[in-house]
Amino acid sequence: MKRPLDIERIFPEIGQIQNETLRAQVKAVWEELWQASEWTDFETLPTSGEIPYPHKPHNRAVIAMALAVADAFERFHGVRIDRDVLIAAGLLQDASKLVETRPAEDGAVASSDIGRRYPHAFWATHVALRHGVPDAICHIILTHTPQSARFPDSLEGKILYYVDQLDVLAIYGDRWRKELMITK
Ligand SMILES: [Fe+2]
Repeated sequence: MKRPLDIERIFPEIGQIQNETLRAQVKAVWEELWQASEWTDFETLPTSGEIPYPHKPHNRAVIAMALAVADAFERFHGVRIDRDVLIAAGLLQDASKLVETRPAEDGAVASSDIGRRYPHAFWATHVALRHGVPDAICHIILTHTPQSARFPDSLEGKILYYVDQLDVLAIYGDRWRKELMITK
């Protein structure tokens, strides 16, 4: 067994989750995935197989931006955001990178069997559900990626979706394009 992940040190944002049960669940999901992962140094976990930038600062920036958006919504519009949902989902949405990828030769990143068999974030959602993480959060984990068949239905999920993609512009490059489509 590997040394347990010091999640409070890696992601101090977990301390901002008010609900104690939810905080413990977030920690348990990360720990289970960490133990199942072939990565041995968390700091070297990349954002993705395609994006070599380290995952940790990406994840922390996504949560910081999501909280800043929540602040602005509340301050200017009085729109309340569930911060426990926002932080927990922001912390868990990419947790299955630990088992979807594995370190390969010469610092390269390879897909694991889980990464090849299941869409990104499916496995984190599955583990989160098993640990009793509420549906509202599991929904965001599953829909947070453009690869998902669905778009997040909550404001918390939509905030995370957009700030995640914004952060990729900063760390990797602009992949956005305008699509014309007919909607109701
Ligand atoms: Fe992701």
